[in-house]
Amino acid sequence: MKKINYLDFPKEYKERKGIYLNAFDRVMKKGVYVLGDEVHNFEGEFSKYLGSKYCIGVANGLEALQISLMAIGIGNGDEVITTPLSAVATTLAIMAVDATPIFVDIKENGQLDENLIEKAITKKTKAVMPVHLYGQPLEIEKINDICKKHKLFLIEDACQAHGTKFKGKIAGTFGDISCFSFYPTKNLGAIGDGGAISTNDEKMAKIMYQLRDYGQETKYMHTRYGLNSRLDELQASVLREKLRFLDKDNNKRSLIAKRYVDRLLKNENIKMILPSNFDDSNFHLFVIKTSKRDLLKEYLLKNGIPSLIHYPISIPDQPMFKGRYNNLEIPVTRKLISEILSIPCHPFMQIQEVDYVCKAINEFFNK
Ligand SMILES: Cc1ncc(COP(=O)(O)O)c(C=O)c1O
Repeated sequence: MKKINYLDFPKEYKERKGIYLNAFDRVMKKGVYVLGDEVHNFEGEFSKYLGSKYCIGVANGLEALQISLMAIGIGNGDEVITTPLSAVATTLAIMAVDATPIFVDIKENGQLDENLIEKAITKKTKAVMPVHLYGQPLEIEKINDICKKHKLFLIEDACQAHGTKFKGKIAGTFGDISCFSFYPTKNLGAIGDGGAISTNDEKMAKIMYQLRDYGQETKYMHTRYGLNSRLDELQASVLREKLRFLDKDNNKRSLIAKRYVDRLLKNENIKMILPSNFDDSNFHLFVIKTSKRDLLKEYLLKNGIPSLIHYPISIPDQPMFKGRYNNLEIPVTRKLISEILSIPCHPFMQIQEVDYVCKAINEFFNK
């Protein structure tokens, strides 16, 4: 039996060891570990990659979202429209500023349903915070139009969407503010935690540079309340190197995704969650749907193939809310959650491994 890795960091390190160690060496030789040249250069390089004016390196994706909300001035009594299907961090950021998350149901492809947003807008609504889930693009233009019409801020949660595009334009450049996570499993992943915020708004950027660093404008001059949410030099140095591989790695993911589509298309028992324009996705995750999800997951594992569920519990159904949202109408979310399965898809995967996964999936349904 083959053993497939869901992700393969040791293989990546083996291939790129010299490059990553060189980055580490640069930082150690210089002896500056926090907010030095590496962070500054990474911010410049990442904003250039996105085509945005400002990038603020922060400690993680959750705080990127939190700082964005703080910069806008969102707080107690304000409502933020968001999705029930995401990493819990999307909602935690709203809760961290004491605002109220308003959950709007999703579509069959897992993305926030833009057609339901307007119905959820109240006098208290200040912002919409949708997620480019699985690295696939949202209907971000339509959402942007709704935000403009109702004078709401748009914060793009692009934490899974490094290099994702919508009609050829890069995700993370549509909203007033966009947020990224560099958690190791992301397409652009650090060797620990990291995150970034991107914006074209100079005033907002200035506030966010302060918010990530104790609210200080200059050393020991604290203009506002702030966090310690700094991206560190070591992470920034490795991210700079990894950024150079991002498009190439995303292309590799895309080839793997194409192979999955090729080999699984005829299988009537499963559906694949795919973007309307194949080349727009960064294929952060490759997600299939089947009513036999749990049995398939078990079968794959027996055959050496790990898989994950993104996500097994919707955010409003999490125990932390103690049943507060039991009557919330999110039927599509609750159904999808019982069917989705993320199968291995990473740039260091061999095509033979993809074929092995497909064979196992097809065999399961032919048993
Ligand atoms: C969609 C989404 N939002 C926010 C986050 C939070 O990022 P982090 O884990 O870096 O705090 C993540 C990562 O898990 C994510 O996938």
